[in-house]
Amino acid sequence: MSQRIYIFDTTLRDGEQVPGSQLTTEEKIVVAKELERLGVDIIEAGFPISSPGDFQSVVAISKAVSEPVICALSRAKKEDIDAAGEALKYAKRGRIHTGIGSSDIHIRNKFNSTREQILEQAVAAVKHARNYVEDVEFYAEDAGRADLQFLAQLTQAVIAAGATVVNLPDTTGYCLPDEYGKKIKYIYENVSNVHQATISIHCHNDLGLATANTLAGIQNGARQVEVTINGIGERAGNTSLEEIVMALKVHKELGFETGIDAKRLYPISQLVSEMMRMPVQANKAIVGRNAFAHSSGIHQDGFLKHAENYEIMTPQEVGVPQSSIVLTARSGRHALKHRLELLGYRYDKPTLDTLYKRFLDMADIRKEVNDKDLMELIR
Ligand code: KIV
Ligand code: ZN
Repeated sequence: MSQRIYIFDTTLRDGEQVPGSQLTTEEKIVVAKELERLGVDIIEAGFPISSPGDFQSVVAISKAVSEPVICALSRAKKEDIDAAGEALKYAKRGRIHTGIGSSDIHIRNKFNSTREQILEQAVAAVKHARNYVEDVEFYAEDAGRADLQFLAQLTQAVIAAGATVVNLPDTTGYCLPDEYGKKIKYIYENVSNVHQATISIHCHNDLGLATANTLAGIQNGARQVEVTINGIGERAGNTSLEEIVMALKVHKELGFETGIDAKRLYPISQLVSEMMRMPVQANKAIVGRNAFAHSSGIHQDGFLKHAENYEIMTPQEVGVPQSSIVLTARSGRHALKHRLELLGYRYDKPTLDTLYKRFLDMADIRKEVNDKDLMELIR
């Protein structure tokens, strides 16, 4: 039996913090409804104290979406929590996500505080949030760089205060997978009440390790992952939802499953990219333009013999209509023959050899040869 991993989507909160990507409330509702269809378990809808617009968006999403839990962010401050609680009034199932810095770097340089004061403030915030909702998530910001013993002490205290989920974020994308995995393991081994809550992971991609760190967190006991569509988010972004979902799906032997309808991954990636004005890089895993495009002769030949030779999942599984063979000067005869046949032309070997030579000349000049170019070649 596979274990369920809960997908907490923060595209509309951490993702929306990206400069130039702000959405109107109406646009956020469109994305939230697609996230609901995709099957995410929790939607982080916004940070209500941050602006009247964000407050309004959390209210509107709470009304428009009924299946996932709707979550609102707050700092560990009474006025933030009050705003989050108020904004979640219409949510069928609401969650307040409150928290504070946990690393000594943050405690000293951001809060000018002490570990003892942080602990007190964290406990008070969780208790206050419980006056609004039964489901309270606590985030220990910068857990990736926090002292392990203090992190365990903080986790123990917030669970005792009523936190149902504890998020241990690698806020600065600093950790290595092995290190982050050990951190989560340490929490499981040293926090006596840990099984009364769900441990959540939230990774940033500053070293390009967000997906690897998130997988390490799962393999060491975390059961909720905080992710965004296309991995958008602060600086180098957050863990990408589609990468985690497909890594768990392709590697069934790990024994985890999600509630995501993978066929909706590509359509929602396109929607978010367009609405948030964030182009998806061509070689982005799962949803990039080249994710199922084969361009070298060796790969094309192998792919045409059997797709499994060069694809570990089918494009259709993630909602991409089909794989593509890109004709370039690196393509071989097999790929050219295949494309010509798709266009309805079959040739004997000598004619194909002649066409192939001309094709290479054309490809050297035009870089990529499309169907229109091929028709010109045939003529
Ligand atoms: O990266 C982070 O630590 C966050 C928290 C607010 C959860 O986004
Ligand atoms: Zn974050």
